[in-house]
Amino acid sequence: MSARGAVIWMTGLSGAGKSTLANALHERLTAAGHRAIVLDGDALRRGLNADLGFASGDRSENLRRVAHVAQLFRQQGFVAIVAVISPEHRHRLTAREIVGEGFVEVFVSAPLKVCEARDVKGLYARARRGEIAHFTGISGPFDPPLAPDVVIETDRVPLDEAVERLLAQLRAAGRLSG
Ligand code: ADX
Repeated sequence: MSARGAVIWMTGLSGAGKSTLANALHERLTAAGHRAIVLDGDALRRGLNADLGFASGDRSENLRRVAHVAQLFRQQGFVAIVAVISPEHRHRLTAREIVGEGFVEVFVSAPLKVCEARDVKGLYARARRGEIAHFTGISGPFDPPLAPDVVIETDRVPLDEAVERLLAQLRAAGRLSG
């Protein structure tokens, strides 16, 4: 069983559930013998992208780098599962251009009020207090994707079902064999 390679590009608000979904998909793919890797915005910003902040230009550079890394993995036959806010249309367009073949845009969607109520990292509370500039959804923009390949509403769809939908999308796109 082998993967032809793909980039699952998960976009959505902080707290929408991108990392949870990315990790669950990764587990399923590797259990089935496919090569897969999770590229998570938070983790990448601790190392490769530690020099970058959250103003629009820095986000573009962050995402340009992530897209190139994902592309290298895709070329090696991996399913690269990218979990990044990527808030603007142009961010996603650039990523799609860099990756080319095998790019799957997934809108991990949850209402702002749901993400804010979850507030796993306490960042929404801080952003509301005016302590975080350019905070997506509060003091920074989020453009909902116009034509994503898949939409997962994480406040409505159970995790298992969301993973199944993504696997089905990968199979339908001919990105998985076996
Ligand atoms: S992106 O916009 O450049 O794609 P990325 O996914 O790498 O963002 O990083 C988002 C993570 O950084 C969030 O999950 C959150 O933990 C943290 N973060 C810190 N400051 C901000 C901010 N101003 N806006 C959004 N996320 C922030």
